[in-house]
Amino acid sequence: MAKALSAFVLLGVALGALASQSKSAPLAEPAAANFVNATLGGVAYTNKGMVGFGLMPSNFTDSTGDTFGGVGSAIALKRGTWKQLSNGSFTGTLFVQPDRGYNVITTVDYRARHHEINFVLSPYYNTTNLTFAAAQSTLAVHYAKTILHYDRWNGNTSGLDALGVRPAVLGFPNKYLPLSDPPLPIANATYTHLTIDAEGLVEMPDGTLWVSDEYGPYIYRFTANGRLIQTIQPPAAILPLNVTGGLNFTSVPNPTTGRAPNQGFEGLAYDQTRSRLYALLQSATIQDGGAVDTTQQWTRLLAWDVSNPLERPPLVGEWVVELPLTKKGKTNAASELHFVSENVFLALSRDGKGRGDDGSTTSAYKQVDLFSIANATNIANTAFDSPSTPIAVNGVLNSTITPATYVSFLSLIDGVQLGRFGLHNGDPDDATLIDGKFESLALAPCRDPAFKDDYFLFTVADNDFQTTQGVSVGVPYNMGVDEDTQFLVFRVTLPGLESIGI
Ligand SMILES: *[C@@H]1O[C@H](CO)[C@@H](O)[C@H](O)[C@H]1NC(C)=O
Ligand SMILES: *[C@@H]1O[C@H](CO)[C@@H](O)[C@H](O)[C@H]1NC(C)=O
Ligand SMILES: *[C@@H]1O[C@H](CO)[C@@H](O)[C@H](O)[C@H]1NC(C)=O
Ligand SMILES: *[C@@H]1O[C@H](CO)[C@@H](O)[C@H](O)[C@H]1NC(C)=O
Ligand SMILES: *[C@@H]1O[C@H](CO)[C@@H](O)[C@H](O)[C@H]1NC(C)=O
Ligand SMILES: *[C@@H]1O[C@H](CO)[C@@H](O)[C@H](O)[C@H]1NC(C)=O
Ligand SMILES: *[C@@H]1O[C@H](CO)[C@@H](O)[C@H](O)[C@H]1NC(C)=O
Ligand SMILES: *[C@@H]1O[C@H](CO)[C@@H](O)[C@H](O)[C@H]1NC(C)=O
Ligand SMILES: *[C@@H]1O[C@H](CO)[C@@H](O)[C@H](O)[C@H]1NC(C)=O
Ligand SMILES: *[C@@H]1O[C@H](CO)[C@@H](O)[C@H](O)[C@H]1NC(C)=O
Ligand SMILES: *[C@@H]1O[C@H](CO)[C@@H](O)[C@H](O)[C@H]1NC(C)=O
Repeated sequence: MAKALSAFVLLGVALGALASQSKSAPLAEPAAANFVNATLGGVAYTNKGMVGFGLMPSNFTDSTGDTFGGVGSAIALKRGTWKQLSNGSFTGTLFVQPDRGYNVITTVDYRARHHEINFVLSPYYNTTNLTFAAAQSTLAVHYAKTILHYDRWNGNTSGLDALGVRPAVLGFPNKYLPLSDPPLPIANATYTHLTIDAEGLVEMPDGTLWVSDEYGPYIYRFTANGRLIQTIQPPAAILPLNVTGGLNFTSVPNPTTGRAPNQGFEGLAYDQTRSRLYALLQSATIQDGGAVDTTQQWTRLLAWDVSNPLERPPLVGEWVVELPLTKKGKTNAASELHFVSENVFLALSRDGKGRGDDGSTTSAYKQVDLFSIANATNIANTAFDSPSTPIAVNGVLNSTITPATYVSFLSLIDGVQLGRFGLHNGDPDDATLIDGKFESLALAPCRDPAFKDDYFLFTVADNDFQTTQGVSVGVPYNMGVDEDTQFLVFRVTLPGLESIGI
């Protein structure tokens, strides 16, 4: 359970800052001047500022020959790779996962995959601004390899729009018997490849990977080598159903009920202590107000017990989360979720403005916020799991439901923090403009004896494969803009954070 900051720790901040500033060397701890605190359920959490920045160039290609892009859709720190070096730096490997490929003109037959990125983090704590070029040495990133994701029997997966439905297969014959596949999204009746628009990613203790997607919206389990072994289907209220109640997974028109197109399970998180897998819908289902951006703030968080790999994971929890609104009352949809401690989560909510957005360079909201479900109503396995009982109508939540407590925490567009790394928000629209779409979170311990609750928080952008020198499934393309994939690292104090299994 969470505990409050002790007076000893607070004193440590002051002494640590004084000691470091007296030496003519890079600060060994973050400068306290820009700390931002949040309180949730009586616990104080601290954002100690940005400490690392790195990038992968927009024209980089992966080992399959496709442009490397979209990778901030989900990240995870690969288990067993996080190391503290004696010179103050840290090394590790990040899994980074693209969504459905370069799909600005149309969806493409892009095979689902994840990449491994090796990095060296040399945290930068000084308040002095670095140049954009110098800042890139604070997080040096190196592409290592790509692991493609395959359907059952090694079939290729695809990023094409899901116009077809593969019927359920019962008693699937593998070691995970008696599991079965629910009806699955496929390209169409003749090109029957499983189509995936991947967003969330969790690595399990046994090395298998849970991947959440937007078409189903489903959660797939893959072996470490990328072979599909299991699928979780959410309740009917979440599934995209047509007017006669049939499944239609397409991402083009709105379904009659269920997840809005491209607003599927953006967030995926794992509570290792309780073996629970959590998925967060990007915004409200259609019946809950999801068709309109001024009423789509009531989204749902779902939890499955995944402790027994031989059984179909039971739905054990479902809660309502109210997403933050813009000044004009539009929803800042949620792009990622991370587990902190029992009932407490980080959520990444944002607009899409910044580098790569063709509308505006000035972002108003890009935050990693905190929320708690300690006092929220668990609506799992109730009438709300049926599409005919919405949780909210016209933006008004059903009064029988208490939503999660949601508090503002860490801004990705703070001008002072961006300036320290040669970055900015708003014009000019150049390589030093903050990317529009950050969609991923990973945590690693600082291993600082004076601050045992301090963690590095990684977030990576989804650049939508935007480059002037692109290759998509063998076909060259030019998007007219080069949006590098930006990697940001912050240092945060998260009292009570439970095992993050790295
Ligand atoms: C960090 O700041 C200290 C003064 O507080 C200065 O002596 C040192 O050169 C700075 N280091 C860098 C890398 O900017
Ligand atoms: C925020 O919390 C830190 C401890 O993590 C403390 O040193 C600082 O004074 C707090 N700042 C504010 C404005 O409350
Ligand atoms: C839950 O409610 C209790 C009692 O009202 C309150 O003390 C606590 O702070 C609340 N927790 C959250 C996370 O809102
Ligand atoms: C990416 O573009 C830069 C600048 O045009 C060029 O120097 C570099 O060789 C390109 N890299 C790849 C992998 O094409
Ligand atoms: C620490 O050593 C690693 C490995 O040699 C190196 O990559 C990194 O830049 C070094 N860090 C500092 C702060 O010098
Ligand atoms: C999978 O995709 C690759 C690359 O497009 C292709 O070479 C291979 O034939 C495909 N395999 C199947 C079984 O469709
Ligand atoms: C799903 O909807 C799309 C667009 O309306 C349509 O083209 C497709 O045939 C539908 N698929 C099924 C399985 O009904
Ligand atoms: C099914 O999809 C494939 C791949 O995009 C396409 O070539 C084919 O024309 C499609 N078939 C139908 C019936 O739409
Ligand atoms: C709804 O979906 C079902 C199953 O995919 C399909 O058979 C039916 O034709 C669809 N109904 C309409 C009105 O599109
Ligand atoms: C609120 O939900 C309850 C079910 O818990 C339902 O009976 C009631 O009609 C709903 N109220 C509204 C206004 O929709
Ligand atoms: C550092 O960057 C910030 C944000 O861009 C800027 O306001 C500030 O003037 C810069 N400081 C210096 C000393 O250049």
